[in-house]
Amino acid sequence: MFVNFALLLTLLSTASAVEFQIINNSPATPVFVQLLGTQYPDPFVLQGGQQTTLTYDEPWSGRIWGRVDCYSVEECGAAGPIPASLAEITVGDGMAFYDLSLVDGFNINLSMEPVDGHGDGGPYSCQKSECAYPILDDCPEELKLYNAEHELVSCQAACNVFQTDLYCCRGEHSTPDTCKSSDWPVNYSSFFKERCPDAYCYAYDDQQSTFTCDSNRYVVTFL
Ligand SMILES: *[C@@H]1O[C@H](CO)[C@@H](O)[C@H](O)[C@H]1NC(C)=O
Ligand SMILES: *[C@@H]1O[C@H](CO)[C@@H](O)[C@H](O)[C@H]1NC(C)=O
Repeated sequence: MFVNFALLLTLLSTASAVEFQIINNSPATPVFVQLLGTQYPDPFVLQGGQQTTLTYDEPWSGRIWGRVDCYSVEECGAAGPIPASLAEITVGDGMAFYDLSLVDGFNINLSMEPVDGHGDGGPYSCQKSECAYPILDDCPEELKLYNAEHELVSCQAACNVFQTDLYCCRGEHSTPDTCKSSDWPVNYSSFFKERCPDAYCYAYDDQQSTFTCDSNRYVVTFL
């Protein structure tokens, strides 16, 4: 009994946790925040200027995104593959792989950045990844997604709109060699990449968009 208790204490003291500080930096716009991952909270609203910190056991893997066109699960639908800008992270023992993804589309500006991280000093080591560009304003007409109130809510990925194997990198086009955005009828991926070079813009986008860091704290900011 005593031995088991000692073992338990050892396990507890070595298990690490990861902290996500989520900030809404746009003063006038509440953000409906959703997470999907190893552990995650119910969706919640952050008013302009508000922030919250979530702490989870490592390893943790998942994604964080926000909506500004709806503010409840009833309105927005349950957490799922919606055309939103995503912050993605996989973290274990402090070491993380993180990226921003527009693979489903773009809806709002966001950034992700580790705090007090240790890395090798390379351009993708412990750096802030940010996507901030008025993409909705420039969005090609055929990629625009409107809600029931006819508000423009998202600039969707070509895969979401056209559902072809080529744009979705599946079927005959399910490998990096057979799904090059340069072979697409329209290079929609480059539309996003030119505006947000830090972000993944389609399934086999360049590996450079993945950042790494040794840190237990990450800040995700809606801009
Ligand atoms: C996103 O960031 C860009 C660049 O800072 C800015 O021009 C644009 O207004 C922002 N979009 C929103 C919805 O705030
Ligand atoms: C398509 O976009 C990718 C990513 O920006 C770029 O590397 C490639 O050169 C583009 N191809 C064409 C044909 O424009």
